[in-house]
Amino acid sequence: MGAEDAASLIDNGAVVGMSGFTGSGYPKAVPLALAAQIEEQHAAGNPFQVKIWSGASTGPELDGALAKADGIDFRLPYNSDPIAREKINAGEMNYFDMHLSQVAPMAWQGFLGRLDTAVIEVSGITPEGDLIPSSSVGNNKTWLDQAEKIILEVNSWQSDAFDGMHDIYYGTALPPNRLPIPLVKPDDRIGQPHFKVDPNKIVAIVETDIPDRNAPFAKPDATAEAIAGHLLDFLKHEVAVGRMPASLLPLQSGVGNVTNAVLAGLLDSPFENMTSFTEVIQDGMLDLLDAGKLRMASATAFSLSPEVAERFNKDAHRYRDKLILRPQEISNHPELIRRLGCVAMNGLIEADIYGNVNSTHIMGSRIQNGIGGSGDFARNAFISIFMSPSTAKGGKISAIVPMASHVDHISQDVQVIVTEQGLADLRGLAPKQKAKLIIENCTHPDYRDALRDYFDRANHSSFGKHAPNNLNEALSWHQRYVETGSMK
Ligand code: COA
Repeated sequence: MGAEDAASLIDNGAVVGMSGFTGSGYPKAVPLALAAQIEEQHAAGNPFQVKIWSGASTGPELDGALAKADGIDFRLPYNSDPIAREKINAGEMNYFDMHLSQVAPMAWQGFLGRLDTAVIEVSGITPEGDLIPSSSVGNNKTWLDQAEKIILEVNSWQSDAFDGMHDIYYGTALPPNRLPIPLVKPDDRIGQPHFKVDPNKIVAIVETDIPDRNAPFAKPDATAEAIAGHLLDFLKHEVAVGRMPASLLPLQSGVGNVTNAVLAGLLDSPFENMTSFTEVIQDGMLDLLDAGKLRMASATAFSLSPEVAERFNKDAHRYRDKLILRPQEISNHPELIRRLGCVAMNGLIEADIYGNVNSTHIMGSRIQNGIGGSGDFARNAFISIFMSPSTAKGGKISAIVPMASHVDHISQDVQVIVTEQGLADLRGLAPKQKAKLIIENCTHPDYRDALRDYFDRANHSSFGKHAPNNLNEALSWHQRYVETGSMK
């Protein structure tokens, strides 16, 4: 049926499980039609909002259009849409940020309530009635199983070559019946290529050909290249001292411009036969595969710039045996990340001098995106690395601060911090040792003296001398920014 008729099957107040993960594989036609219907209802003076569950971020046709229509009452888990972000930060939309590996289990455990409708993009339907996933898997398996009714969008823009690329594992169970997940290498296939679905639950099938609309990556600048350089030197050193094999360990690369630049840096590195067990496949990863440096990659979604997505779609069959897309409870599973020994590389918003990392909240209160999979990987990785430019907003903000204004990753989960200024290897260090290294190696020169001064004075006046802090001052840099527009 048409998207308008399908959208009209979604009621005011409905809980809707949408496909989609980091700008790929999200439904497009039905959410756009739903947004238009919500606007009409609002114009007629009728309330109409829905609750959205997804895999991670989606695209402008979904989060953007629905947020613009004031159509989202509640959303989980990860969002990077600018309009939705503004609504959340204006206090007009409820947003539940959570670890991406936990969304499906929590839905199964009944922690999130009932799911009314699933709206799932697929790239095809087999003659047997199974569903061929598209450019992301995310939580689709769970939404299809749990929703009372299902709307499918069959997107002909997505490549035919997707068939056979996915590995959908149906072996998860709830405690006390959980069993080990039988995956011991990133290459292992442990499931089946298609989603099962109960045809009696399908209330609409809509055809579309709308492209995934992902944001382009910024071209790596000198700062990103310097961060990548420090990180690559570190990895070479780890190999040289025998702590990692020459092919490294399975790489996890987070979202964002800086992590994409690191992937670009790996192109010119000495490492060969690398593998990746990660959440998203970015532009840089396809380049590594093309160059023969990366042997294979396992993820839950593509996160490609529009240009590279078009290129990939034309050529997808070439990557069929090198890429595996899995449900996000598997791509991000703590058991598997710990077993494989992933090298986790994620972006940060700010870190404090003791190595606590804030990945989500600007000035402790404005959400940027969400924790995504960074917590799944950071806590369970072989080594957990966080990186960022040392300043933000043209130098008005220091990414290294006396005390983080929000903490996503406690210092125990942060082993290495890298900025363009240098790298701090925090393994095996006490808080004051960490502070010295972070201040001297990672801080921008414009802020270094001020941090040295803070740390010296805190050492004398603090309540305790284990991780000295001056509580009157610890968040004063943030307060200064809020009041004057600069931390300086
Ligand atoms: N204070 C204020 N704003 C800051 C900031 C700080 N300390 N640090 C970064 N920002 C802003 C930047 O100015 C930029 O804003 P803009 O888009 O308005 O210019 C934005 O945050 C993104 O920063 P950028 O330096 O371009 O980094 P990025 O694209 O690499 O993203 C994160 C960095 C932390 C936002 C991103 O990695 C993220 O969302 N992480 C959490 C989820 C995650 O790690 N997922 C991966 C798991 S697999």
